[in-house]
Amino acid sequence: MKSRLFTCALALTACLSGQAQTHVLDIQTNKVGAAVQNTMYGMFFEDINYAADGGLYGELVKNRSFEFPQNFMGWKVFGNVQLKNDGPFERCPHYVVLSDPGHGERRTGLQNEGFFGIGVKKGEEYRFSVWARAIGNDAKIRVQLIDEHSMGENQQFVSHDLDIKGNKWQKYEVVMKSPITFDKANLRIFLKSRNAVALEHVSLFPVNTFKNRENGLRQDLAQALADAHPGIFRFPGGCIVEGVDLATRYQWKNTVGPVENRPLNQNRWEYTFEHRYYPDYYQSYGLGFFEYFQLCEDIIAEPLPVLNVGMACQYQNWNNEKAHVPYDQLQPYIQDCLDLIEFANGPADSEWGKVRAEMGHPAPFNMKYIGVGNEQWDTLYYKRLEPFVKAIRAKYPNIKIVGTSGPDSEGKMFEKGWEAMKKQKADLVDEHYYRDEQWFLGTADRNRYPNCGALRYDSYDRKGPKVFAGEYACHGRGKKWNHYHTSILEAAVMTGFERNADVVHMTAYAPLFAHVDGWQWRPDLIWFDNNRMFKSVSYYVQQMYATNKGTNVLPLTMDKKPVAGQEGQDGLFASAVTDKQKGEVIVKVVNTSDKAQPVTLNLIKMKNATSAETITLSHSGMDDENTLDNPEKITPKAGSADVKADKKGATIDDTVPPMSFRLYRVK
Ligand code: AHR
Repeated sequence: MKSRLFTCALALTACLSGQAQTHVLDIQTNKVGAAVQNTMYGMFFEDINYAADGGLYGELVKNRSFEFPQNFMGWKVFGNVQLKNDGPFERCPHYVVLSDPGHGERRTGLQNEGFFGIGVKKGEEYRFSVWARAIGNDAKIRVQLIDEHSMGENQQFVSHDLDIKGNKWQKYEVVMKSPITFDKANLRIFLKSRNAVALEHVSLFPVNTFKNRENGLRQDLAQALADAHPGIFRFPGGCIVEGVDLATRYQWKNTVGPVENRPLNQNRWEYTFEHRYYPDYYQSYGLGFFEYFQLCEDIIAEPLPVLNVGMACQYQNWNNEKAHVPYDQLQPYIQDCLDLIEFANGPADSEWGKVRAEMGHPAPFNMKYIGVGNEQWDTLYYKRLEPFVKAIRAKYPNIKIVGTSGPDSEGKMFEKGWEAMKKQKADLVDEHYYRDEQWFLGTADRNRYPNCGALRYDSYDRKGPKVFAGEYACHGRGKKWNHYHTSILEAAVMTGFERNADVVHMTAYAPLFAHVDGWQWRPDLIWFDNNRMFKSVSYYVQQMYATNKGTNVLPLTMDKKPVAGQEGQDGLFASAVTDKQKGEVIVKVVNTSDKAQPVTLNLIKMKNATSAETITLSHSGMDDENTLDNPEKITPKAGSADVKADKKGATIDDTVPPMSFRLYRVK
C-alpha cells in the first residue's frame, strides 16, 4: 500500500511538472501461467514475390527444362536450335537440339537471362549441370557466364568446354568460379562441334547452398530464416494452394521425386495484379515438399503443410460453385492428405514413405500438423472440410488439423467460420489479418472491428480450438510498404499474443520474402536482389519475440488492467513471461506514443534479481526502413538496466523511448 501511495505521489509530481507520468507495471513473477508453445512465433512461406524460384530456391536458370508454355521464355536462341518433346523425363518432355548452323550462320547456341539476371559473387563457385546426348558421335559445348552489355573486351568472364560423349542421355557437370561480383549475368551456351547435341534440364546453382545441398537453397536467405528461430513453418502458401482454378492448384505429389521430372505449374501471382504483372512467373517445383520438410528439420521448426480442400480461390470464383470439386468427388483430395502424412511420417517401406526414403531421408519427418484449405469461407468450405477431418482423424488421430476462419479478421463470416471449426473440432483455426495502424493500436471503429488490437484474444473462448494467427501484418493506411512505424505496432499486438498464450498457439507474419525486382505484395519480412538481402524491421520484431519467448506467461498489469494501449496507458503495451529453464523473467514493453515514457517494472516476489539485459528497437524516422544498401540502418541494440532488489521483489526504473520496443531479461 505504501509503495502504491508513493507511486501516486510521484505521478502527481510528474503531472504538475509537465513530465510524462511514470507508469508502474506490476509483474507477478510467482504466478506462473500458461505455457508458451514452441510453435508460438512461426514463419509462413508462400511462392509470391519470387520467393521460391528466383528466391529461396538456389536455381539460377529460369525455364531450365523448356516447359514454359512459350518454351523459350527466358532464353535467347541463335543459329540452328530445335525444340523437341520426346525427352527422357516424362513429365518435362521438352528439350533442345543444337545443330551446326551451316555456312550462312556461324554459331548455334542459347542464352538464359536468369531471374532478373543471374547473381554471382567473386570467388564463389557455381555448378553448371545439364542432361545431354550427342547426336551421332561425340559433341562439345562451351558454357559461359557473361555480361551481355559489357563495355570491356570480352562479354564472358567465365568459360568452360564440356565434352558430350555418346548418344545416351547423361548428366554432365562443371564447377565454375566467378572472378567478379555481378547480379545481372547471363548463362550462354555455344555448340562447339560439327555434331549436334541435345540438351535438357540446364541448371546452375551456387555450390555454397544452405547445408551444401545440390538441389539446395540460397544460403543467405535460408540462414535468415534459421536466425529468426521460427517455431513452425507453414508452406507452400497462401493462395497458390488453391490456384485460380483447380488445374493450377499446388499439388504436392508433383513436387517430390527426381527434380528433373517435376512438372511445371503456373504461378497465380503471375497475373493476379495487372499493375504488378510478371508473365514469366512459374513454379518449377524444384523447391518441393521434401525440401520444405528438410528445411523445417534444419531450422528446427514444426512443419505445417497446407493442402487444397477441393476448392479453387474463392475471390477469383465468387459465387461460382462449379469452380470447386463436387462434394461427392473429394476422395482424391482427401487421399492427398493421407498420403502426405504417410510421405512425412510413414515407414520407409510404405508407399509414400518409400518416396521420401529414396530422396535420402529414411527417417520420418515427424510431422504433427496439417492445414486443410487456405483462406476459405462459408458453407462450401465447411461442408467440404468435414470428410477430410473424418478421414484424417480415423487414420491419424494424433495429427492436429488446422482449419480456417477465412480472410476477415472479424464479422459475420469470420464468426460463422469459427463456429464451424468448433463444430468440427479443428485443433487450430488459421486467422488472417492485414490491417491498418488503428486496427493494430486497438483504436479502430469498435462497431466494425470489435476485436482489433492487443486485447483481441482476451475474450476468446478458452475451450474451443486454439488460434493460429497465420497471416498478419500492419498495412499502413496509404503507406502499404515496409516502414518502421508499422513494425512497432506489430510488436504492440504481439504482446496480446503472448498474454493469451493459453489460446494463441501459433502466429506468423506474412508474406515472408520479396525480390526487389519482382514483388506483387508488400510489406514483406525479408527483401532481396540477386546477391544481397536485408531484414526488415518487422523481421527484427519477430526475431526478438521468437528468441525471447520464455516458457510460461506471467500476469502483467497496470492499475490491474492488461497493458494494451488502453485509456490512461499512454500508448504503452506490455507482456511478461518467465523462462523456467533459465530462471529468467522477460518483460516486453512497446511504447507507441511519440513521447518517452518513464516506467517502473515492479517484479513482485522476484527474489535474488541481479541484473537486467535489454534489447531495444528505437528509431526516429517513422517512414524509414532497412535497405539493400543500408541493411542495418535499424536493428535491435543490446543494453542493460539497473535492478533494485529487496525482500518483496525487484524493480527496474527506466524510460522507454518514443515509438520503440524494448525487452528486459531479468536474471
Ligand atoms: O500473403 C498473401 C496472400 O494473402 C496469401 O496468399 C493469402 O492467403 C492471403 O490472402
